[in-house]
Amino acid sequence: MRKLAAGNWKMNGLAASLAEVKALTEAHPAPACEMLLCPPATLIAQMAGAAKGTALMVGGQDCHPKASGAHTGDVSAAMVKDAGASHLILGHSERRADHGETDALVRAKAEAAMAVGLVAIVCIGETEAERDAGRTLNVVGTQLAGSVPDGATAATLVIAYEPVWAIGTGRTPTLPEIAEIHAFIRARLTDRIGAEAAGVRLLYGGSVKPSNAVDIFALANVDGALVGGASLKAADFGAIVAALSAA
Ligand code: 13P
Repeated sequence: MRKLAAGNWKMNGLAASLAEVKALTEAHPAPACEMLLCPPATLIAQMAGAAKGTALMVGGQDCHPKASGAHTGDVSAAMVKDAGASHLILGHSERRADHGETDALVRAKAEAAMAVGLVAIVCIGETEAERDAGRTLNVVGTQLAGSVPDGATAATLVIAYEPVWAIGTGRTPTLPEIAEIHAFIRARLTDRIGAEAAGVRLLYGGSVKPSNAVDIFALANVDGALVGGASLKAADFGAIVAALSAA
């Protein structure tokens, strides 16, 4: 499978930030891995325009589970697609924490994304308290079972394992821990969707930097990364794209 370098800009970026897109696509015209940036909804259309004809794909960070209707302030999966996106990040821990998103809601959003032909990047990961209590595999397994739609395939689903305590902190699990958890996710996903699970990209996320990318990408069952802070600068994200292309 082709690996995936995905960047999550979160609530960062104005039109001027698109200069980073130009720098990234010029430096990496034909990477061996897939390259995706997910800006805030306000920038999807502009970024998709800037990325046209390049190797960069564009994604959103959330959608409403319904197709349309009286939901002020929300955007539907079809709207995100219409703006030029190919992927949607869903169930990020910041949305689970800030907006009380449950596994059932994340699953409904993932179904909405797949229904319009978007790839759903479903995020899972334990908090520090859950890790300290020895519950990591339990939490991740429960989130996976509850958040992944029936009928998901390698072409429609990506899983991002992002330990909450590693996001934006500069801390990461050890390499054997990442390998163990990704192997566990692959096995549970196989229970959930069968043989298709072998081709689903499993991304690691949480303080991925150019300095740790090579070691993380060498691990079995790590098929890419979901990158926050280091995706905002073309030089940093480009270095991660290069590391993944070489892995
Ligand atoms: P950082 O790379 O900034 O730790 O963020 C990870 C993340 O949450 C990506 O979705």
